[in-house]
Amino acid sequence: MDKFVIAGGARLKGAVRVSGSKNAALPIMAACILAQGKTVLKNVPRLFDIEILSEILGKLGVSVKRLPNSDMEIQVIDDSKCVADYDLVSKMRASICVLGPLLAKRHEAKVSLPGGCVIGVRPIDLHIKGLSAFGANITVEHGYVVARAKKLKSAEIYLGGMFGSTVTGTANILMAAVLAEGTTIIENAACEPEVADLAGFLNKMGAKIKGIGTHKLLVKGVRRLKAVTYSIIPDRIEAGTFMVAAAVTNGNITIENCIAEHLTAVIDKLREIGVTVNKKKNSCQVIGTDRIKPVYISTLPYPGFPTDMQAQFCSLLSLADGISVITERVYPDRFMHVAELNRMGANIKKEGESAVIVGVKKLSGAQVIASDLRASAALVLAGLVAEGQTEITRVYHIDRGYEKIEEKFNKLGARIQRKLDKKLIVVEEK
Ligand code: UD1
Repeated sequence: MDKFVIAGGARLKGAVRVSGSKNAALPIMAACILAQGKTVLKNVPRLFDIEILSEILGKLGVSVKRLPNSDMEIQVIDDSKCVADYDLVSKMRASICVLGPLLAKRHEAKVSLPGGCVIGVRPIDLHIKGLSAFGANITVEHGYVVARAKKLKSAEIYLGGMFGSTVTGTANILMAAVLAEGTTIIENAACEPEVADLAGFLNKMGAKIKGIGTHKLLVKGVRRLKAVTYSIIPDRIEAGTFMVAAAVTNGNITIENCIAEHLTAVIDKLREIGVTVNKKKNSCQVIGTDRIKPVYISTLPYPGFPTDMQAQFCSLLSLADGISVITERVYPDRFMHVAELNRMGANIKKEGESAVIVGVKKLSGAQVIASDLRASAALVLAGLVAEGQTEITRVYHIDRGYEKIEEKFNKLGARIQRKLDKKLIVVEEK
């Protein structure tokens, strides 16, 4: 298992290219279960999570081949298989996104319940509610969601939960609705760009979805979907992470392959903090500031401030000139990075669903542990600006969602080394 050793203090400068969106690529790959023929996806990032889903699809009779560059070819070979087992699903929650397409195309799905994770409980009640509305019989047996339906019938589905809409839930319902008989209405649908990208892909395959990018989706069912070539949107969270890197190191980074309108809430907060953001056609230039101003942030479903950028902003605001408050309205327990940032000299207190961040003059390098994907990004950002050396263990979390992250940072002037963490292997092998 690898660790990162970061020598802090470099001001990052130059240009970096953002990879394709992980959270768009995952449901789009799952949607290939619905297609007849060879799908070619472009701009698919090379990430651990993508490999896991490729393996799950392989066991479901779907051939997934990597092509040169970031292309991928996907084709259904055998559509008799319906089981996604625990070993793989437990490695990545988003594997639940095979449930909708399996049910719609193969009339049966048995997918292991993903379980909780360090960022919270993460139920799938809305997925089950939505799929049941199509007339499917859904039960939970021995840790598996078992769904069966000879035919899916259109429905009116409200997808609001305690914490707002659901991204993967909307994806699952949408992938079932496209083959359901009649017109389905999905209310309070998630309108994240990744959901819109999936809907765009499905429409290119022949689906009839209206209201893309809004909270109300109208889906007229069709009999079949064809395979197409499709390019995945750039990863807005990777782009946002580089924006914070420019801000926290007082650097000057041009982020290429970046759709600025997917990051409106993030850019708005960066500007309030005092950071300069120059939006261009397919890129964004971000220039840091000598004085980081404190701000208040609440995470919300899109177009609100993304929960996936909360940890990175904790790192940035820990160096602000004053007190900031970040309230987490999507995953109230998503604050595992706070204790680690405090080990680096930050002064952050968790108060219920909020982090109260009292800005400090500097962070100092320390040994810290990455607990989850975005928390690890936050620790890398803190390590970039900390005085001295930071060692981050369990960086496999970051490899789940950021392609060649240390190479990209090092090209901008960072000093990050990936090293084999022998201690961790011994501990984890016990
Ligand atoms: C997706 C993203 C993740 C991001 C999150 C919120 C993927 C692969 N992952 O996760 O990076 O942090 O959106 O933007 O796209 N909920 C329920 N019942 C359900 C489903 C969800 O109560 O059936 C709750 C969740 O616990 C959470 C909130 O709704 O509090 C939002 O979750 P959801 O949008 O479903 O997150 P994911 O799709 O799992």
